[in-house]
Amino acid sequence: MPEEKPTLDHEHRPTKLGTEFITKFYRLLKGTTIYDRKNVIIDRLTQECVQVINNTVRSEGNLFLKIVRDNFFFNNIQIIVGADKFPIFKAFWQDMRKRWIGEVEFSEELKGEHLRDFIYLLSGLEENNESNYLYVKKQLEHRNIESIEVGKLEFYKDEEIYVDSEDQKKYSKEVYFKSIGIVKEVVEGINQQKALNIRKAKRLMQNAVNAIMQDDSTLLGLANIKNYDEYTFNHSVNVAIYAITLGQRIGIPKKHLSHLGMAGLFHDMGKTKIPREILNKTGKLSPEEWAIMRFHPVIGTELIMRMKEWGELSTRMIEGAFEHHLRYDLTGYPKLSRKRKISLFGRIITIADFYDALVRPRVYNRFPYVSEKILGIMLERSGKDFDPAIVKVFINMIGIFPLGTLVLLNTNEMGIVTQIQEESELVDRPKVCLLYYSDGEYRKGKMVDLREMDEATRNFERSVVKTLDPNEYNINVAEFLM
Ligand SMILES: [Fe+2]
Ligand SMILES: [Fe+2]
Repeated sequence: MPEEKPTLDHEHRPTKLGTEFITKFYRLLKGTTIYDRKNVIIDRLTQECVQVINNTVRSEGNLFLKIVRDNFFFNNIQIIVGADKFPIFKAFWQDMRKRWIGEVEFSEELKGEHLRDFIYLLSGLEENNESNYLYVKKQLEHRNIESIEVGKLEFYKDEEIYVDSEDQKKYSKEVYFKSIGIVKEVVEGINQQKALNIRKAKRLMQNAVNAIMQDDSTLLGLANIKNYDEYTFNHSVNVAIYAITLGQRIGIPKKHLSHLGMAGLFHDMGKTKIPREILNKTGKLSPEEWAIMRFHPVIGTELIMRMKEWGELSTRMIEGAFEHHLRYDLTGYPKLSRKRKISLFGRIITIADFYDALVRPRVYNRFPYVSEKILGIMLERSGKDFDPAIVKVFINMIGIFPLGTLVLLNTNEMGIVTQIQEESELVDRPKVCLLYYSDGEYRKGKMVDLREMDEATRNFERSVVKTLDPNEYNINVAEFLM
């Protein structure tokens, strides 16, 4: 059993103060990407952040934030990141990592002006430059700001680092398509009773975990694109990706996440023994066919138990294969003779599987459900089919307009969602790549952030009116996401 996350003690002071600081600091940092220094919103964000810093300095003597791997330390004590705060911490972590800044320290109370100088300094740093911290130090010195200190981000030797976002994307894509390859290979191996290359699969899932920890948007984006012809293998990889991303958010330690990925990758292994006519049938299944179909979790479990290649992984794999249709209240299949609790891995994979199975286009109905509707169904069945706590985290993770959604804006523009906001109050304000029509096809236009406000009226510049079906417009979403 993976260690469950410790419950958050509300009196854990470093966590409370650290979370408050990071939230305000990150909002301000994000603000600098939209507004200039004189903007009133920047004014407000700066004031809010200064208040938190000065309160801390007054009560604790100083404020020192250090990032070690993916952990945060506040005045040398580790912050326990709650699932609801996870997206902000992760986004902040990515921003700092890009800039190679791993430490920030405030040793005295400070003025708003100074914080503003500092934040624009950080915001303007070039990506992937190891000596950024030296530049910041020099600039602070030059401006006589002595109460702020920064330090370099420390990496460990065994970490694979893709600070550059293009490299990161390329790496993620590679992991995705190699994973599809390995599922195919293993499935064919089972049918031909060949030795299976489990080590390769394990390595790929470790790579997937690394990629997701650094930036999950490319892999989630790939998982969200549902216009593949061959979805059996894509489905397996998608479930693994959703499971890892979800697992990370509820605090499953890194070393267990790749196991979770493996369990997700092979959850439907039993389907390899289901006759193709039933598996690929596009019409309704007869009761007899259903009975056979429902047997796949048991077959999968048997297949796993028979193969010794899985080694210590087999318990996890069985959880994925056997439990993913059981449902939280055990009303699913297979029927159990004795009540038992579904494992954490089983509960996660159930959610990942359900979501992916419903969004995928079917031959007889190419755009069956939009994500909003599925998330609605999931919420409705929360506590019955799904673990309510995990469903909540999942819905936050996917967002109402998931990556790759085609949307119509109130400005009558069309766009594709390319980034969802980390803050849960802003899930309806993603970043969107606008489309324009020319020479018979839709093309990439400019990127807009739906958080942008008109300064005079204080209204949002653009809002989503509704989601559209990309097939109807002959739009290949993948081209715009990658
Ligand atoms: Fe299944
Ligand atoms: Fe499945």
